[in-house]
Amino acid sequence: MTTPSPSNIVQTRFKDAFAGTPRLFRAPGRINIIGEHVDYAGGKVMPAAIDFACWVAARPNGQNRLRVISDLGDGELPLDMFERHGDWRDYVAGMAFALRDAGHPVVGHDLAIASDVPMGAGVSSSAALEVAVGLALTGGAVTGKQLAVVAQAAENHYVGMACGIMDQFASACGVEGHALVLDCSSLHARPIAMPDTACFLIVDSGVKHRHTSGGYASRRADCETAAKALGVSLLAEIASVDALAGLSGNPLKRARHVVSEIARTSAAEQALATSDLAHLGQLLNQSHASLSSDMEVSTPEVDRLTAIAQATPGVYGARMMGGGFGGSIIALAAPSAAEAALDAILTTYAQDLGHRPGAFVVRAAAGAGEVL
Ligand code: GLA
Repeated sequence: MTTPSPSNIVQTRFKDAFAGTPRLFRAPGRINIIGEHVDYAGGKVMPAAIDFACWVAARPNGQNRLRVISDLGDGELPLDMFERHGDWRDYVAGMAFALRDAGHPVVGHDLAIASDVPMGAGVSSSAALEVAVGLALTGGAVTGKQLAVVAQAAENHYVGMACGIMDQFASACGVEGHALVLDCSSLHARPIAMPDTACFLIVDSGVKHRHTSGGYASRRADCETAAKALGVSLLAEIASVDALAGLSGNPLKRARHVVSEIARTSAAEQALATSDLAHLGQLLNQSHASLSSDMEVSTPEVDRLTAIAQATPGVYGARMMGGGFGGSIIALAAPSAAEAALDAILTTYAQDLGHRPGAFVVRAAAGAGEVL
């Protein structure tokens, strides 16, 4: 028996629970090739939407509330006052309130939601949920960029996570077969074709992250302290690590990561455009070293998994991906070597972990949209 797809699940769920014919929306998770912990510092990132997505079947219900049936639970969410629950409901209701804050009218809806984006694995299941709900509540009447900005605001103000814009932007604006080079200061994005000679492996460390706990926010605060000491509003304005001499302690380490990571992202843009995968792999490895020692957002398990991947034949380079404190790694491989490399990484890492963690080869997919 084949497992039903999230698209079928939401349509069946909607029919069983609610009346009428819904519209169907989809928003993907994302990978990030390079440019980690730089979005909130105004830097350049290189994410891509992936072929795992959150699906929402939606229809206005004539009431001032959202009625929701979902993978994570069911609920009625009033639209007259936001109530924080500390769970999935904050993403759904938060999106409705953030849309209203931004001047978009939102009426009550019936929503059926299902997702196959792995949770807590660093591939942005929450951004996929926010963007899919945002599309559903606006009937698709907003641009991808507007949706990304509102979804980030929902996460910042209603969920309580001080994230940057990368995840929501990649989910909302991804382009099939392409990575995005996104300047997080101007929100200008340029799609860059993924060469046929490259593919990306994602391996879950099995350590679940939760960014609403303090580590992520304290890294962001260190970056803001560094920027202030250097007299700039965002660290992305600093062109070279030579300009960091006046800093010390954590602000110095975090700033050194941000400034060097932005330079690596520019170099990676060039390497991807010229299909120089050996160089791109080296940049991934350097990014990991910097995230681990200067940003201090890796964990011993993630360091070990990354080292295993980096030493695996067929892998050009690997690093931790996303906010850190657990989650997944990303490894660059040739498509012909991908399955064997994935198997070798899993076999070695499973001996440490005691079970084989989730792992997959990803394809760059289209960003969010209505499915007709
Ligand atoms: C999380 C955040 C993003 C970004 C990354 C680190 O995924 O949601 O905004 O800061 O961490 O690059």
